[in-house]
Amino acid sequence: MPGRRPRERCDGGATAVAHPNIALIKYWGKRDERLFLPWTDSLSMTLDIFPTTTRVRLDAAAGQDTVTLDGVPAYGQTLRRVTAFLGLVRERAGLRQRAVVQSRNTVPTGAGLASSAGGFAALAVAAAAAYGLGLDARGLSRLARRGSGSASRSVFGGFALWHAGDAAGTDAEADLASYAEPVPTAGLDAALVVAVLDAGPKEVSSRAAMRRTVATSPLYRPWARSSGEDLAEMRAALLRGDLPAVGEIAERNALGMHATMLAARPAVRYLSPATLTVLDSVLQLRREGVAAYATMDAGPNVKVLCARADAQRVAGVVRAAAPGRAVHIAGPGPGARLTGGDR
Ligand code: DP6
Repeated sequence: MPGRRPRERCDGGATAVAHPNIALIKYWGKRDERLFLPWTDSLSMTLDIFPTTTRVRLDAAAGQDTVTLDGVPAYGQTLRRVTAFLGLVRERAGLRQRAVVQSRNTVPTGAGLASSAGGFAALAVAAAAAYGLGLDARGLSRLARRGSGSASRSVFGGFALWHAGDAAGTDAEADLASYAEPVPTAGLDAALVVAVLDAGPKEVSSRAAMRRTVATSPLYRPWARSSGEDLAEMRAALLRGDLPAVGEIAERNALGMHATMLAARPAVRYLSPATLTVLDSVLQLRREGVAAYATMDAGPNVKVLCARADAQRVAGVVRAAAPGRAVHIAGPGPGARLTGGDR
């Protein structure tokens, strides 16, 4: 069966580390909420900053899962999402034991910096090992997808493409067809300058916002169509190592996604005045001949794609445009993996 490796349970528990990813072609909208099947393909760069480290240990005596995030017990929605995910892992493993999950997350949670991507990728890898699912990378990507769609891409390092999969077929066929995989690039020495303009939790979750967008925005279908064209052009640009083309396509794809939200009823607006100020500074950089392009997710923060050689200059300009805000430089990072200690 595809996606399987020989089973080997880690009785002492398993620890995994994963990094967030930033989409250059966005995932926005599910065609199946239960299976986390998207309407469109998406493509991202996994970062080398903000890792999440998660340990999963089975506890035969426990009546329920316990989850701590940065040492604080999780509750409410977060606990429900993790428990539901573990339930899926248990169902596949044919095991009933509950788990103790301890996660350390260095991303500002809920700020549009894809904390759920690294978080669920690390949880998928650690839980799959702890429960002995024996999944290969593609199987792990499909599993991570069930925690948070974007997490399917963080299973892989560098640039990754998440296939929406074939819309037709049974649930099982559709589930099998929707996974991420690495995409080839040629000599692209890219960096993302991440401006954290607001690290607080957002008013509307990305999950609720994409649901509303799909249901009510007259711009959603046209964007989804053009996103398919963007993806084809993006793949060709990555293969050529053509950073300006990659950046232009990423920027228009992100702005298009935000346009779909602005046209939703009621509108979802994540971009703030500080976002627009940073966007102006990116335009100014381009006027000065620097290949710098912006992308924004479900929050006001701006990530600027540029050549690694230009990253310090870009970060300086972004810092000047966003005084007092944190600005980080990220390169392409590694895929999710078990850490050596307790394999
Ligand atoms: C704007 O993966 O967080 O960052 O699948 O509902 O958990 P769920 O959503 P999530 O959405 C990410 C949306 C985005 C674009 C992207 O990462 O592709």
